[in-house]
Amino acid sequence: MAKKTNSIWAWHKRVMEQNSLVLTVGIIGVVSIGGIVEIAPLFYLDETIEEVEGVRPYTPLELMGRDIYIREGCYACHSQMIRPLRDEVERYGHFSLAAESMYDRPFQWGSKRTGPDLARVGGKYSDEWHRDHMRDPRSVVPGSIMPAYAFMETTALELDVIAGRMRALQRLGVPYTDEMIDLAVDDVRTQLDPFAADYDAFLERYPGAVVRNFDGNEAMISELDAMIAYLQVLGTLVDFSTYEADADANLR
Ligand code: HEC
Repeated sequence: MAKKTNSIWAWHKRVMEQNSLVLTVGIIGVVSIGGIVEIAPLFYLDETIEEVEGVRPYTPLELMGRDIYIREGCYACHSQMIRPLRDEVERYGHFSLAAESMYDRPFQWGSKRTGPDLARVGGKYSDEWHRDHMRDPRSVVPGSIMPAYAFMETTALELDVIAGRMRALQRLGVPYTDEMIDLAVDDVRTQLDPFAADYDAFLERYPGAVVRNFDGNEAMISELDAMIAYLQVLGTLVDFSTYEADADANLR
């Protein structure tokens, strides 16, 4: 027995320790076992994000608002991620769930807060407040250092790009149907008009969507319509009075 053990150590010394290449390959082999144990199970999970009731893809109008938000670099001053810390939850509301940004590509989390977090700004202010604030932030918040975005109100929303953007998101896994993509421009008009003929079908496609004229100007579909539609939906899709975390999902 002792002899056998000795020969293993002799082999180890001769082959492994005196040959740096074999030793390196051996080390990589051993270390990667740890990596595989951590990473491999992720490929067998259907979902790494816990699904939450109420979360749906953006309406075409909200989606355009989100794109303007990104174009204008609003994320340079605003995060959309409420952390599960007491001061944040007391100030902004329920902490953000992963599912709430599952259709955001790219997501708008972050830690740069020159202005407040916007993850739950939906419903906090009226459309009129947003209109005034975008025109001239100082008119509603005297000490504000936020830039004005008055041009949004007079800039027509680009409608012919929407379907293509929804198609791109569909390819990335956002559950837009072909019908939703075909109806994109109609749905922009429907969301701005509570008396539109397609109102009920629109709400079936996008449950919980707010339907009204956001910039107060019915003569034109402006970038401000899209911007306010987007701000007003942020953080409103999950009903936290009935939400209960799925304990099993959290353990994964
Ligand atoms: C230079 C930094 C900066 C940029 C860029 C910026 N903001 Fe702000 N924002 C602020 C600051 C500071 C405040 C707080 C004062 C105020 O309400 O104006 C604020 C407040 C807000 C609020 C009110 C939040 C609340 O809960 O009271 C909204 C909504 C908002 N910003 C939206 C936007 C949008 C949309 C954009 C891009 C079009 C944008 N901001 C770009 C700095 C910025």
